[in-house]
Order: sequence, then C-alpha cells, then structure tokens
Amino acid sequence: MNANLRLGVPLIDLQHQELFSSLEKLTGSGQTQFPDEVLSDVLTRLGTQIRHHFTTEEKLMLAIGLPEAMLREHREAHSLILEELAQIHLDAMHGKAANLPEIVATVSTWVQQHLVEFDLALKPFIAAHSIQQTSTRPS
Ligand SMILES: [Fe+2]
Ligand SMILES: [Fe+2]
Repeated sequence: MNANLRLGVPLIDLQHQELFSSLEKLTGSGQTQFPDEVLSDVLTRLGTQIRHHFTTEEKLMLAIGLPEAMLREHREAHSLILEELAQIHLDAMHGKAANLPEIVATVSTWVQQHLVEFDLALKPFIAAHSIQQTSTRPS
C-alpha cells in the first residue's frame, strides 16, 4: 500500500492493507464467473471484513476525541458503503450481479476514495492526541 495512505496507527494500517490484499486476491485468479453461492460467500466475507474494520476505526475516532460532526459524517460514510455493499449482494442473489472483477473494482474505488477523503482526515487528530499523551506523561 502507498505510504501516503498510512495513518500511523499500526492496527488500522494493517486492516487497510489486508482489505486491499483481499480485494486484489479476488481478481487475482482471472476467473470472472462464479456460481451464486461462491459469489455470495465472497461478498459475505468481504462485508464482515469491512464492517470489522469500520468498527475498529470508529473506536479509534472516539479514543482520539474526534469532533462530533466529523465523527457523525465519517460514521455515515461507513454506513453508506455497507448499505451499497449489501445492495450489490442482494442484486447478486437475484441474478442481477455484475461479475466479480466489476464488483471488486467498484468496492476498491469506494474503499480508496473513502480512505483519502475520510480516513486521512483523522491524521492530524491522531497526531494531536499522541502529542497530548506524550506531554502529559510524567517525565
Ligand atoms: Fe473510515
Ligand atoms: Fe478505513
């Protein structure tokens, strides 16, 4: 993953890295058509991974004391991604699915855009929080 996309919080950076790896792996096989149940399984696992990551990130946002408005907007952006992913899953189950590489490309774009637009905006708050922690630590 591009170093510019790192937040400097090891767990979050690892989860972002793992998410991109999962997405890459899905297209790595070169296979485009999958039986419905395989596609459903893939989307379930991807959804679980993304939801887990969002929960971790939202805990971090609370821990660093992110301003309420930013916290709310960021949470809404997370919910929107999960809703859109659920819609893709539903479409797939009704035979209206795009093929897997198309789905992966769409989800990758969302994740990447979200990371740049929302996650990177946390960086100054993460930095300020660790400075605060350092300065209040007894010497
Ligand atoms: Fe986020
Ligand atoms: Fe994130």
